[in-house]
Order: sequence, then structure tokens, then C-alpha cells
Amino acid sequence: MSVRWGVLGAGWLVNQATAAAIHNADGAVLYATAARDIDRARATQPQIAYDSYAAVLDDPHVDAVYICLSNDAHLPWIEASIAAGKHVLCEKPLVLTAEQAERAFALADNAGVHLVEATWSRWHPRMRRIVELATSGALGEISNYLGTFTFDSMTEGNYRLSPDHGGGALYDVGIYPLHALIACLPDVTSFDIMQVDRVMSDHGVDVTTTATLTWGGDSRASIAGSFVMPESQRLTIRGSAGEVTVTDNQAFTTWRAASTLRVGDHVEEFPTVDAYQIMFEEMSALIRGGDGWLLPPQDSIRVAQTVDALRLHSA
Ligand SMILES: NC(=O)c1ccc[n+]([C@@H]2O[C@H](COP(=O)([O-])OP(=O)(O)OC[C@H]3O[C@@H](n4cnc5c(N)ncnc54)[C@H](OP(=O)(O)O)[C@@H]3O)[C@@H](O)[C@H]2O)c1
Repeated sequence: MSVRWGVLGAGWLVNQATAAAIHNADGAVLYATAARDIDRARATQPQIAYDSYAAVLDDPHVDAVYICLSNDAHLPWIEASIAAGKHVLCEKPLVLTAEQAERAFALADNAGVHLVEATWSRWHPRMRRIVELATSGALGEISNYLGTFTFDSMTEGNYRLSPDHGGGALYDVGIYPLHALIACLPDVTSFDIMQVDRVMSDHGVDVTTTATLTWGGDSRASIAGSFVMPESQRLTIRGSAGEVTVTDNQAFTTWRAASTLRVGDHVEEFPTVDAYQIMFEEMSALIRGGDGWLLPPQDSIRVAQTVDALRLHSA
């Protein structure tokens, strides 16, 4: 039987991509959507629409909840969903601090439900290949990493510019290169921060965060996240035995398009996929007792710890 998903929120991402991803996913149905405006919920074409998020959690037919709300609302709705006995897939950043992440995963463990951060890039076959190359030793000892996710179009009124709603470029886009870094270095338990530069807006959020981290010796990772820099999504990883580079400047958001990866002096090709759909399919399969890959809790906690450290370092 298909997993019946309940969606909290019907904003940009749900309309742009994730409602369709659930509709298209094998083993999943978009059973319920809730939005403050029920017409926006209905527009996602669920079997049932609600005007309250709590109504989704009260609905016994909902197996799993997908939280796609402003970042400050993640933790309370994760906690409420787990208390209602639902599996939870929550948009990135899962929560705002490592302490919150640890608390949320402990709650999920105790309740016997899955809690997963929906950092969709991690499900993309090209990213899975990058991580495989990095962690299998094929690149040798990794010494150098460059990851950027920057763009230059943020509209006034967007929650991303509000400190009260968990806004800021580090939470919004900086965590993509951090997730890839952490996935490629599973044995590194913490990074030393060499430099952090944060440009703050009048609203009180970082519109740019750039940082350099090290994990010993001459190792260096540079990451950038920004709302006010030219569009860039680069990813290069260099090791003692080789280098991989995403060549299309879409390292983290390749969507319904073919993609390529330069590995040393040859290019690997990846067919068109919808990584959001893969994410819903794999989680639905696991919930049904089958096989599927999920982003490990430990990776979400390590990213949250690194975000904490970057925020603290620059405070
Ligand atoms: N994985 C990805 O590719 C990706 C891409 C973009 C965003 N995201 C993540 O997805 C989440 C939503 O992003 P989005 O771009 O869809 O944002 P958005 O269009 O601004 O939607 C935010 C949602 O939050 C809800 N909300 C509740 N209270 C709110 C308040 N006081 N102010 C603003 N919104 C409020 C709204 O729900 P109602 O519908 O009930 O009004 C709205 O639909 C964020 O966590 C973001 O980081 C992920």
C-alpha cells in the first residue's frame, strides 16, 4: 500500500516541485495538504485539503508528514508530528541549532518513527556518485574542497530576510555545500574554522556567509552562501589521487535535467531525474518496510554543529 503523505504548507517549493514529486513518486500518494489559505492547499491536488496543520496530524490516514514551512516553524511541527506518531520529512535546514537537531532525533528514536532532513541534493545520483568517490578512497586523501551556492534575487517580505523566521543565507543555501562536505568526509567529527565572513542585512540576517574550514594538516574547505552574489553553484573536491568537479554550475539544484561530472580527465554523464521524487520514493519504500536510502541523522547533526560553530565564530 502506498504511503499517504500529509504536507504542511503550500508555498513556493510545494507548488514549484514537491507536490508534483509526491504525485509522481511510486509508492506514495499526496493524501492531505494544509495551508493557512485552504485554496492554496487545494491547488496542490491532495485527496483532502485542510486550513490547519494540526488537522493533518489529527488525521489517522496520514502515515508521513512533509514539513515545508519557514525555518522557525520546523522544530515545533517536527515535535508535534512525532507526538502524533507520524514519520517526518522536513525541509532544510532541519532546525536552527545542533541542540535542537539532537533533541528532535531523540524524540523520533523514542517514538520509533523516521525523521529525515529533506536536503534533496543528497538524493541526486550525481551527488551520490561524488560521495562514493570521496568515501571509497578513489580520490585518495581529500585535501581541498570548494562549494558555493550564491544568487542575487531576494524579494523584500520573504521569510529568508527575517531573523524571527530563521532567515539568512547560511541556513538557506550555505548548508548545501556544508552537507556535501560532511558527506564526503564521514570520519571528520569536527572542523576548525580558519575564517568566517558574514555580511549582515539591515533586517539582521546574513545575506552572505563565506568560510574556510580545516580538518588538520593543509586541508582546506571553502564554502559560500549568499543572496547578493552572482549566481554560482560550484563543487570541486581534490584529493591526493584525483579531483572531481561539477561543471554545470548547478551542483545542488540540478532538476529534471541531465547532468555531468568531471572525474579526473573524463566526464561521467547522469540522466534526467527528479531528485525530490527519488527522495519521496526512497523514504516511502523504507516506511513500507522495503529498501531505500535516507540522509543519516548524524549528517544533519554534523551540519547543524558546523552551522552553530560558524554563527558563534562570527558573533
Ligand atoms: N529543497 C529545496 O530545494 C528547497 C527550495 C526552497 C525552499 N526550501 C525550504 O522549504 C521551506 C519553505 O520554503 P519556500 O521557498 O516554499 O517558502 P515560502 O514560499 O515562503 O513558504 C513558506 C511557508 O511557510 C508557511 N508559513 C507559516 N507561517 C509563516 C509566516 N509567518 N511567514 C511566512 N511563511 C509562513 C507558509 O505556509 P502556508 O502555505 O500555510 O501559508 C508558507 O507556505 C524552507 O524551509 C526552505 O528552506 C527547500
